[in-house]
Amino acid sequence: MPEAQLSGLEALKREAAVRAVALVESGMRVGLGTGSTAKYAIEEIGRRLAAGELSGIVGVATSEASDVLARQVGIPVEPLDPRPLDIAIDGADEIDPDLNLIKGLGGALLREKLTEVQARRFIVIADHTKLVSGLGEKAPVPIEIARFGFLSTIERLRALGLGGRLRQPGAQPYVSDNGNYIFDAALPQPCDALTLERTLKGTLGVIETGFFLGMAERAFVAGLDGVREVVRRG
Ligand code: A5P
Repeated sequence: MPEAQLSGLEALKREAAVRAVALVESGMRVGLGTGSTAKYAIEEIGRRLAAGELSGIVGVATSEASDVLARQVGIPVEPLDPRPLDIAIDGADEIDPDLNLIKGLGGALLREKLTEVQARRFIVIADHTKLVSGLGEKAPVPIEIARFGFLSTIERLRALGLGGRLRQPGAQPYVSDNGNYIFDAALPQPCDALTLERTLKGTLGVIETGFFLGMAERAFVAGLDGVREVVRRG
């Protein structure tokens, strides 16, 4: 869609995406994110390929939806294998001042984390509404849990003091690309995300969490005054 026809927030998402895709070079293996912001990055990579600005790109998609979109715009897609990715570009639900993230409101957290942890450079793209002073301020943290025995797993999560609910957009619970359920946990404020992440990873029935801590190299955050580049310290 031409820039002029995009609504305000959509235009900002696209601006951030275009800035990040400028870091993509010919021959790179690129992790392709998921969601309404990552969509613009995939489209921009496709545009640059079609324009002859890029060649030899291989994409690794973090969801079925991104796989479909990537192929539509002409990006060759391969499954994740043990080789490192040169770069991964993805959106986020919350970004704290140290570039720790909450991701997964789109349901792709497990594949996103598996992919982005293998990237030499993990670049976050977002509009300014995603910035928070502490994780959990605005969004729940999605926790992917096994379907088998999910009520028991939810009891364990509640015993950790987590509020929230099983993601259920209609009559049935939401099922991830991996066949699992998602529990959207409301976080106590302030939240010690690192400690909670470790506890959750040791909780039976939990497959993955939407905490992406210490992973992002930089973020391009678009606001009304332009795109701000935030680099992780240390
Ligand atoms: C997908 O599961 C998510 O991690 C998304 O990357 C995240 O929810 C950001 O999505 P939007 O760009 O649509 O806000």
